[in-house]
Amino acid sequence: MTSEHATEAYVWMWLPQALSPIVVGKMALSGQQYHFTYGQRYRTRLDAMPLSPVELPLTARTFSPTGLHDMPACLRDASPDAWGRRLIDYQMPQLNPNELDYLLLSGSDRIGALDFQASATEYVPRDAEAVELEVIDSFATMLEQQRPISKKLLPILLHGTSVGGARPKCLLEKEGKPYIAKFSLSSDHHALVKTEYIAMRLAAKVGLDVAPVLLTKSAGRDILLVERFDRVITQEGVHRKHMLSVLSLLGLHEMEARYASYLNLAHLIRQRFDHPRQLLRELFGRLVFNILIGNNDDHARNHAAFWDGQCLRLTPAYDLSPQLRMGYESTQAMRIAGVQGNASTLVNVLSVCAAFLLQTEEARQRIVQQIEMLEQQWPEICGEARLSQQEQSRLWGSVIKSDYCLQGFKH
Ligand SMILES: Nc1ncnc2c1ncn2[C@@H]1O[C@H](COP(=O)(O)OP(=O)(O)O)[C@@H](O)[C@H]1O
Ligand SMILES: [Mg+2]
Repeated sequence: MTSEHATEAYVWMWLPQALSPIVVGKMALSGQQYHFTYGQRYRTRLDAMPLSPVELPLTARTFSPTGLHDMPACLRDASPDAWGRRLIDYQMPQLNPNELDYLLLSGSDRIGALDFQASATEYVPRDAEAVELEVIDSFATMLEQQRPISKKLLPILLHGTSVGGARPKCLLEKEGKPYIAKFSLSSDHHALVKTEYIAMRLAAKVGLDVAPVLLTKSAGRDILLVERFDRVITQEGVHRKHMLSVLSLLGLHEMEARYASYLNLAHLIRQRFDHPRQLLRELFGRLVFNILIGNNDDHARNHAAFWDGQCLRLTPAYDLSPQLRMGYESTQAMRIAGVQGNASTLVNVLSVCAAFLLQTEEARQRIVQQIEMLEQQWPEICGEARLSQQEQSRLWGSVIKSDYCLQGFKH
């Protein structure tokens, strides 16, 4: 590493109801680790809130990462993932960025209510220029094909750097609403964007709390627009909602994601969330739905909570993406720990319904309702997305409402 690398970064945050950010604390590199300390001025504010209720209580100490972590997990949540990192690496091929570089080089319009700055006194947002979807889409194609990119296009990099996840994406506004745009890749084996659209729409139809979506096209390729739930637009301005991934709430590093379980999350909800009974039902519904639509990519970064300093609440569901599978069987990314281990079956989910404070018969009824709603809505939603008959028959019965997931389930 060279001296060009950042060795410290100030954490700025939009407090609930605030229209501008304030400094919360500092991250500093020491050895290979990033240590966090709250600013004294912040800590002594009447409205100060801990960045995470489980990880960073409001105290004067310096928080050193533990276990596999090289920084507090709730701050890692705000950092770019595979896609954002790829963009930054592309922009700065010589840099070999460290974690603080990634935080300081990514766009300021990030998911949640945090941002990172080199200064503790002056907040200078790294905003992206507004560009057309087609430009970003063709940019994603160039990047994917490892073709040279014109320097003129580099400012648009900021559009996607601050959002987590692995797929190409960018942030944009449409008719006054903020969206995350998710693009297809030419390497996709099926109509992934359309399928995610269908899953998100079906989730709303079965009564789950899920981010609203639109489907659009650019240069013949599908683009999914997911309405952001971490922004609240009011007459006075835009509020940002602080979010924590379930991975960070469970204190896990991404390498330990396989240890996260629905039961751990249910337990956490019972202990620390507002309206636990209602949220447990919602979570049970999400687990059933993931199994029914063949979304086994339900890892702990694809679940998150809002944290406002007083209470934790589940965010709406996102990234519901049916996955084509090689074999007949499937297991969920987040553990179920039921009678069939993590198997993606309804019998397995039913066996853990008590953890969600549901009686078996009530849980069974909820599953049946979802199945009926899926059957009823499938043709219409496929029509909305113009999913070809061929794609429909590839999905229905083998991924969505698969024979495997229904095995042994009586309804
Ligand atoms: N509707 C939304 N509003 C706010 N943040 C979101 C929304 N959808 C996703 N996110 C955040 O963006 C990240 C990446 O989105 P995701 O759909 O999971 O992309 P990928 O398919 O690449 O994993 C998520 O981990 C979550 O933090
Ligand atoms: Mg994701």
